[in-house]
Amino acid sequence: MSAAAFTGTSVMDIDAAKVRGAGSNVHFDKVSVAYGAHVVLHPLTLDIAPGEILAMIGPSGSGKTTALRAVAGFVRPASGRIRIGATDVTDLPPYERGLGMVVQNYALFPHMRVEDNVAFGLRAQGADKALIGERIKDALGTVGMSAYARRYPRELSGGQQQRVAIARALAVRPRVLLLDEPLSALDAQIRRNMVEEIARLHRSLPGLTILYVTHDQTEALTLADKIAIMRDGRVCSHGPTTELYRRPPNRFTAEFLGRANLLPVTVAEAVGPKGFATARHGDALLTGAGRNEKAGDKSLLCIRPQHLSLTADSDHTNRIVGTLQEVHWQGELTHLVLDVDGTPVRVSATRLPIALPEPGAKVPLFFAPADTSLLPEDAGV
Ligand SMILES: Nc1ncnc2c1ncn2[C@@H]1O[C@H](COP(=O)(O)OP(=O)(O)OP(=O)(O)O)[C@@H](O)[C@H]1O
Ligand SMILES: [Mg+2]
Repeated sequence: MSAAAFTGTSVMDIDAAKVRGAGSNVHFDKVSVAYGAHVVLHPLTLDIAPGEILAMIGPSGSGKTTALRAVAGFVRPASGRIRIGATDVTDLPPYERGLGMVVQNYALFPHMRVEDNVAFGLRAQGADKALIGERIKDALGTVGMSAYARRYPRELSGGQQQRVAIARALAVRPRVLLLDEPLSALDAQIRRNMVEEIARLHRSLPGLTILYVTHDQTEALTLADKIAIMRDGRVCSHGPTTELYRRPPNRFTAEFLGRANLLPVTVAEAVGPKGFATARHGDALLTGAGRNEKAGDKSLLCIRPQHLSLTADSDHTNRIVGTLQEVHWQGELTHLVLDVDGTPVRVSATRLPIALPEPGAKVPLFFAPADTSLLPEDAGV
């Protein structure tokens, strides 16, 4: 695969740039989708701001592709409206919506050269030859594939094919780019590179709104300004990426966005003006970031494995003790599993004490209140 990154040399035409700026937000207004009697998307209300990357993630069958296809115009909502910019597109055919779309399996036309694949949408729109030539050059330049214009898809690697699919989507100068698991057919190393390149691509086209559907929480955390987590046809949380990761509003979100330790606690002292509550776990009195917890509430204290330490820093004012069960050394990180009063607790440590404790040993763990989040105990959704 070419080492060239998406260089972002795209020459915007002024009209498209104008449309993108103000007109590229996507608004779902109580959009529901049903197949026969089976409702697969419950009324969804969601805004994607102009130029935002929204990652929609969730388990298989949770309705991610359905939501994206509703924006694209490939499924018709049973109720609700979809707007792109100021335009209500609910009744418009896909090709009038100003979108580019890339799906998992590239879907390049195998019998067409790269340049003809990229030109496809423009030809369908009846664009003139000079414009098409310019756009091909521009789109392939943007994805670092200028040297491959004359090749056929079968002569390209998976990563290169996916770049061409992105170039094809960009060639029509979309207001919104829809990506449905665009990298899932690629192997892990290429996927990581492509994630970085999509991030670079977006920096070069900052007004382009992107709806990025993925299973992969790392892709979502790396790329997205905001994340929407889908579960059973509903959005179970939606917010800025770092906020959702650091302060997940519910257990499903905490566990879907990376690993989370969830210690059952009872709130001892309600959330104060600085946003912290104290809570008991067995004998330990712990401080955690809360929302509106009150004394006596049963709650879960969420702590990410990398925020637990075997050595105490000055801000690590929380301390719990666990029995060491497993140690897995992985080069940069050592993963430990402990039992803390019946709750399995994972630690991912970069720093370890010189004398590593043996399995069966009682080990104190330290963590900072700011790295925690209290969740309602019963919050399945
Ligand atoms: N054409 C269809 N006819 C009937 N049911 C469908 C159709 N397309 C999807 N579904 C159902 O709608 C639900 C949501 O499917 P969708 O493809 O949106 O899930 P997803 O979140 O994209 O899953 P995945 O991660 O596996 O791609 C599933 O239960 C699926 O079986
Ligand atoms: Mg899907």
